[in-house]
Amino acid sequence: MLPFHQAVADDFEKVNQLIIDQLHSNVGLVENIGHYLVEAGGKRLRPLLALLTANALNYPQDGKNQHLDLAAIIEFIHTATLLHDDVVDTSDMRRGRLTANAKWGNAPSVLVGDFLYSRAFQMMVAIRDMDIMHILSETTNIIAEGEVQQLVNAKNPEVSEATYFEVIRKKTGVLFESACETAAVLSDATETQRTALREYGYHLGLAFQLVDDALDYEGDTEALGKNVGDDLAEGKPTLPLIYAMREASAEDSQTIAQAIRDGDVDKLETVVAIVKQCGALQYTADCAADHVNKAKEKLAVLDDSKYRKAMSQLADFAIARDH
Ligand code: IPE
Ligand code: IPE
Ligand code: MG
Ligand code: MG
Ligand code: MG
Repeated sequence: MLPFHQAVADDFEKVNQLIIDQLHSNVGLVENIGHYLVEAGGKRLRPLLALLTANALNYPQDGKNQHLDLAAIIEFIHTATLLHDDVVDTSDMRRGRLTANAKWGNAPSVLVGDFLYSRAFQMMVAIRDMDIMHILSETTNIIAEGEVQQLVNAKNPEVSEATYFEVIRKKTGVLFESACETAAVLSDATETQRTALREYGYHLGLAFQLVDDALDYEGDTEALGKNVGDDLAEGKPTLPLIYAMREASAEDSQTIAQAIRDGDVDKLETVVAIVKQCGALQYTADCAADHVNKAKEKLAVLDDSKYRKAMSQLADFAIARDH
């Protein structure tokens, strides 16, 4: 548990249990894969955001506990995207273990991902709130679109910084936004609070993915629990590379463009040296820090509380993390 989990430790435990309970299926393989991924843990940042937001807005006071369902739904959507993402990224390590696709193959991973998405929608309907269903159905659709857009951009060194930001907003930012916004809706937040909290999630989500993309070059596989270099292997033009192609020497810029075209992970060491030397990782970290500052400013719509503090700490963690 990370320090900012403490503020909602009881809720968090209940959500972890709910996640396990809701994985039930009569088909053994569904439960096996579901438990395998869920038991490996993960940071559970998105459900935590829903819990912190709801508590910061005094939601559970009247004995209701739909924020727990909401948190579990959001983690299911996230887990489904990871199952699919590891297939499309041909990744073989996640949360310190073999990915489901490496262990069971692509077909089971895709299908169990679908199971988790649809289980999330079953649970969502049970909340009976049209606003929440609207936000989460949009979210799921946008994530899928972002992943497709990224696939189309693979091996293309011409992708612009603006396009990169559009993709990371869709594939990652939106779920962070929605975790906060749906919890705000559930808590009868004012329109101003709802908007500010969605924006907090937006900035936090962008910072989170920016750091993820930097860690794919400078991270440590053991700490991360996933392989470093997967982005280069897929020829992904992420911000460290986009910046380096713009700012490094013509020769280094060509080396990177070619490594993107070839999806050449054998060039990882060379590429890492270039992105470090030309300041691309620093630039990416600075962009992330900028978004974290913006995220924290948005918290001004909340009264001071341990929950608000935890949301601020969570934002700091997004850029200080090694996993
Ligand atoms: C991984 O998300 C996918 C990205 C958006 C970078 P997390 O780093 O939150 O994954 P877990 O749930 O903690 O494993
Ligand atoms: C993850 O992006 C985005 C989604 C899961 C939708 P990445 O592909 O960078 O995530 P990791 O690095 O595999 O966790
Ligand atoms: Mg991936
Ligand atoms: Mg991916
Ligand atoms: Mg990544």
